[in-house]
Amino acid sequence: MTEATLQAEAAPCLLVDQLGFSWPSGQPALNHCSFSIPRPGLWMLVGGNGSGKSTLLRLIAGLLDPSRGRLLRPIKPALVFQNPDHQLLLPSCGSDVQLSLPPGLDAGARQRAVGTALGQVGLAGFQERPIHTLSGGQKQRLAIAGALASQAQLLLLDEPTALLDETSQQEVLELIRLLCSRPEQPLTALWITHRLEELDWCDGAALMERGSVGPWRSGPLLRSQLSPLRAGRAEG
Ligand SMILES: Nc1ncnc2c1ncn2[C@@H]1O[C@H](COP(=O)(O)OP(=O)(O)OP(=O)(O)O)[C@@H](O)[C@H]1O
Ligand SMILES: [Mg+2]
Repeated sequence: MTEATLQAEAAPCLLVDQLGFSWPSGQPALNHCSFSIPRPGLWMLVGGNGSGKSTLLRLIAGLLDPSRGRLLRPIKPALVFQNPDHQLLLPSCGSDVQLSLPPGLDAGARQRAVGTALGQVGLAGFQERPIHTLSGGQKQRLAIAGALASQAQLLLLDEPTALLDETSQQEVLELIRLLCSRPEQPLTALWITHRLEELDWCDGAALMERGSVGPWRSGPLLRSQLSPLRAGRAEG
């Protein structure tokens, strides 16, 4: 794809073009990986262990540099990990969200922004709550509040519900679904999952295999195509 074509296609929320990445050992993790996210919404990736999903999110987040190819990322990204304990750093909810705020806000504006972000994830009034008193689902929603406070519009969620029970899983899914479908400034989420039932909630789903992303399909269709394979594997 040429520079001119890339610029002409600047409208997508994300464009990944022939991306390649190899670890220092020489082992490839991404191979000619190309896809785009055409509009805000909830977009899901599924794929086997080691297919390159987490590496892809780290490249999109800018934590790794591609070996080959291009990334066009016109909106600000933020990563949300599987285990919120890996990204919550400060003792109280309010102080942790403060860490993510953009610079240049005065004290009043910082307080308001923290309150807004907590409110958006259903944790209104939790400013002083010690993080260690939160449930797993609340911690994950706090991590999402940090992403919102950073003014990110592209959420990169790496198996965000893998450690949660069914109720908390549903709450996080509904929260992201809401943020991605709100009429004003809908967010874009790229959500990695091994839980096939989550595919029913997305705007598009794709399969990642051997470092490359396949075409977008409807979530229920991809789920129905993968379920028999998964069942077969479980039996074998
Ligand atoms: N820090 C690292 N150093 C070297 N190789 C790595 C590193 N992290 C991942 N890899 C390798 O890169 C490949 C892709 O790994 P990645 O973690 O992106 O897969 P994944 O699709 O997220 O898998 P999973 O479903 O298990 O989370 C694997 O072969 C893995 O062993
Ligand atoms: Mg992974």
